[in-house]
Amino acid sequence: TPIDDVVESVELGAYDHYMLKEIYDQPRALAATFHACDNLLRDDSCFGDGAAAIFDRVNNVQIAACGTSYHAGMVARYWLEELAGIACEVEVASEFRYRKRVQHEGTLLLTISQSGETADTLAALRNAGEHEFVGTMVIANVDNSSLVRESDLVFLTRAGAEIGVASTKAFTTQLVALLMLTIALGRRRGMSPEKQQEVINALQRLPDFVEETLELDTNIQQLSEAFIPKHHALFLGRGIQYPIAMEGSLKLKEISYIHAEAYPAGELKHGPLALVDDDMPVVAVAPGDELLEKLKSNLEEVRSRGGELFVFADRAAGFSSEPRVKVLNMPHCPEVIKPIVYTVALQLLSYHVAVQKGTDVDKPRNLAKSVTVE
Ligand code: G6P
Repeated sequence: TPIDDVVESVELGAYDHYMLKEIYDQPRALAATFHACDNLLRDDSCFGDGAAAIFDRVNNVQIAACGTSYHAGMVARYWLEELAGIACEVEVASEFRYRKRVQHEGTLLLTISQSGETADTLAALRNAGEHEFVGTMVIANVDNSSLVRESDLVFLTRAGAEIGVASTKAFTTQLVALLMLTIALGRRRGMSPEKQQEVINALQRLPDFVEETLELDTNIQQLSEAFIPKHHALFLGRGIQYPIAMEGSLKLKEISYIHAEAYPAGELKHGPLALVDDDMPVVAVAPGDELLEKLKSNLEEVRSRGGELFVFADRAAGFSSEPRVKVLNMPHCPEVIKPIVYTVALQLLSYHVAVQKGTDVDKPRNLAKSVTVE
């Protein structure tokens, strides 16, 4: 099969697993993806022939995708609505394809897929003809894949071959592509040139912040040890970090087989808090001051039952570890790229848990890299 050919041609080198190699390849992959567009402030040609004419007519974006790619879409919703002022809906492709929906005028159908071959995502695109979209676009990593061949507009991420079943660099490069798309659409809807430039500057510096995060590997490995004997974990995020919490929990369940769930931080009290005890570590992604205080007081209530909090936070926030609260100090980086930078830390967390549990990290049981059947 093609994937086996790829596996043979991609050397593991000094790495123990493809997943780790792919995590470490991110600074390169992110920079390459960013450099696919020459002049984002003026030119849309990197999104395919005819992009400008379609983008001019876009009022809404409808995203359909599966798995990790769906999480990329959820992040994009925050960027598109907040920075570009464009309404955006995101749905898992397997639901989207079978549901009767109300279609708004001027909607772009955007699919996101590493492989470009996922059956449900492809079906979502193939059904597009029944609705009046202004156009279809795919963000994919594999050139000449079905989604690429059948979409009006194509943006190829430059992740390179991704072998590990658990997606890492494909996800973060999708996020770069989506942030660039936010600029292209935002430019048409009053996103100021200063704001556009600010996002571009952040994207330019992104590979360095990811490098800095990779340097935290040893600290993350130390944190990961607490998860090895656990059977459950809860991931919390607020706002744009909520989908990152979802992605963090997906990574953990995929490769370490620990049951993990993600909640928007504010929902903790509405159910999951009942489950927190010493078998249920709680991971909080990038909480600000106020949120962390709230989380701590929520957990205070379960302290007697051994609740433990793991916090991934900007080092500038000045949080420090205390009994039952472990803090990982993350690089101080622009807000807009935090979802990408924090993802890398969560990838390493899952990786180390899985390695220490002795699972087949690159080929987790029952899962496939590309799901081409329903
Ligand atoms: C499978 C893979 C995931 C991936 C999902 C969607 O479940 O194991 O890693 O996120 O399919 O794949 P796609 O190629 O469409 O991004």
